[in-house]
Amino acid sequence: MAVADWDDARGRMLLDPAVVNLNTGSGGPLPRGVFDRVTALRTHLAGEPMDFLLREVPPLLWRARERLAGFLGGAPHRLALTANVTGAVNMVASSLNLAAPGEILLSDDEYTPMRWCWERMARRQGLEVRTFRLPALPSDPGEIVDAAVAAMSPRTRLLSFSHVVSATGLVLPAAELCEQARRRGITTVVDGAHAPGFLDLDLAGMPCDFYAGSGHKWLLAPTGVGFLHLGPGQLERLEPPQVSWAYQPPPGSGPPDGRDRFGSTPRLRRLECEGTRDICPWLAVPEAIDFQAGLGHDAIRARRRELTDHARLRLAGGLGLAPVTPEPEALSGAMVTFRLPRGARADELRQGLWERFRIEAAAAERPEGPLLRVSANFYNTEDEIDRLADALKELL
Ligand SMILES: Cc1ncc(COP(=O)(O)O)c(C=O)c1O
Repeated sequence: MAVADWDDARGRMLLDPAVVNLNTGSGGPLPRGVFDRVTALRTHLAGEPMDFLLREVPPLLWRARERLAGFLGGAPHRLALTANVTGAVNMVASSLNLAAPGEILLSDDEYTPMRWCWERMARRQGLEVRTFRLPALPSDPGEIVDAAVAAMSPRTRLLSFSHVVSATGLVLPAAELCEQARRRGITTVVDGAHAPGFLDLDLAGMPCDFYAGSGHKWLLAPTGVGFLHLGPGQLERLEPPQVSWAYQPPPGSGPPDGRDRFGSTPRLRRLECEGTRDICPWLAVPEAIDFQAGLGHDAIRARRRELTDHARLRLAGGLGLAPVTPEPEALSGAMVTFRLPRGARADELRQGLWERFRIEAAAAERPEGPLLRVSANFYNTEDEIDRLADALKELL
């Protein structure tokens, strides 16, 4: 795709021209069309709440569910919508009853609140949390599978891991990990916070029990979109985080997994309904999907690869920062993370990047030393990465 097309795509984003935004991994900016759509929906909600909720929402909600399920390679009647991935993972952790004594197995690089969520579940149910070590800079996904399998035991009740690791952008071989767990009777929960829009997903073909994801990162959907895709027979295991109207389906609701008159199925609505609230972000998901489909997902992925290659050239080659993200395409995508020199402080660096240079990038303190993560999306440019490299030269 010609460079001019990326300029045009960038022009269709709600980006602040004064800011270098290299942090889609934390939250993606919105395409203007998606913002306009969610704003139009909210205008209806604001002006005629009951007309909106009773009459406009149901068909739009089913359309959003079908489109998202199609995009994820999943099934609409197995796709529960949530506010974010945190809500989806918590719903699973607070619902399941696992046989104690036993273990919950995690990778050693899980997103901190999600690790806490599993630790709380373990405390409540008399289980232990165990971790397997992710290999440093693996050259083949099989190394990750081997590390996880070696840690599985007859005591393992549940395996949870990030499909894309937040701190490093490492892509885990989710299907293979779930397959290995399934053979051993272990329940699997995949934290796919970064995956939608980052990876090509085929959830129907993924042998996992629960797959949670976020819409506000690489999918470029409004904040407030998350989901939980459930494997066969898993919906029955879940309890809603909040008991509301759908806890007991009204008479005539139809079969538990059939489309109902609310834009859900009775089983999904039982989990989704949390009293009166604003679900407009869910309804704008089709526009977010259409926007990137219009640019072409393969073209976007290829452009991100050009940008992450450029980041490696400038930050590793130019500044000598060691990448901690492997290069092979099976193991990485739109995020590349670098080790900062010993003595650098992640919070000070992030503050300096923002206050002196208006550059937004994620930096985190880790036991092995501070890290800087560069998220590169189609609306970023080589020039922005050069500005990051120049700013780092001054700050470090
Ligand atoms: C791997 C991972 N899990 C969970 C989350 C939490 O996402 P959210 O705040 O959308 O719930 C994040 C956020 O960055 C993440 O990277």
